[in-house]
Amino acid sequence: MRVIFLGSPGAGKGTQAAVLKDRYGLAHISTGDILRENVRSGTALGKTAKKYMDSGGLVPDDVIIAMMKERLQEPDCRGGFILDGFPRTVPQAEALDRLLDGMGITLDGVILFEIPRQLVIDRLTGRRVCGSCGEIYNVRFKNTKVPGVCDRCGGELTQRDDDREEVVIRRLEVYEEQTAPLVRYYEEKGRLIRVDAGQEGDRVVAAIEKAVGL
Ligand code: AP5
Repeated sequence: MRVIFLGSPGAGKGTQAAVLKDRYGLAHISTGDILRENVRSGTALGKTAKKYMDSGGLVPDDVIIAMMKERLQEPDCRGGFILDGFPRTVPQAEALDRLLDGMGITLDGVILFEIPRQLVIDRLTGRRVCGSCGEIYNVRFKNTKVPGVCDRCGGELTQRDDDREEVVIRRLEVYEEQTAPLVRYYEEKGRLIRVDAGQEGDRVVAAIEKAVGL
């Protein structure tokens, strides 16, 4: 399976990708996770990316495209992948088309996570992430047994800097301006599959599995 997960911040792309990754042995490639890892380890890429991420804006296309060109060549991608958070602009989508063409790879589909705006705001402001294993929780929808402690590994939960409400609002504006045009881009190519991402997690996963024939 080679798919793109497209949808607004907080639509549940990372949560459902983690389930499908484990279930089918896919590579889960989240540009957000790669960037945050670079910020944490203080690389040049991380330093460039941080100022855009903190304000809710997008990291420049040329930086992202170079990063993904490298990532898609890694051996774990051979068994299939989920692209989570990439592409996010039309130039990124065009670059991805060229990259995949060059690799002789065809996409199985582009899953559009459809969700009401207010639910996204509730999800993002309530999101907490384990600093050790990366497991995603939510104080409103999926809390831990012990507050602030990861059920899976005992790590400490943190809130992403860009999950503060004012940054969330900016991220949603940026999505509408720069990423939403991709809906049309992939619809015209006959690749778009719409999924109701406002329902319970298991149902979202089942809808994706059905849509791509798993
Ligand atoms: P990124 O990390 O990609 O953030 P995002 O797209 O804004 O997506 P999120 O991670 O916020 O949402 P998600 O859909 O994965 O939701 P999740 O599953 O966690 O990007 C961060 C930044 O990096 C960007 O702002 C930009 O600066 C930069 N960047 C990244 N990629 C880039 C690119 N290609 N180009 C340029 N810049 C780029 O779920 C959210 C919450 O909801 C969780 O708490 C979860 O528990 C809960 N939840 C999920 N599903 C359900 C459900 N079904 N029911 C109830 N609760 C649920």
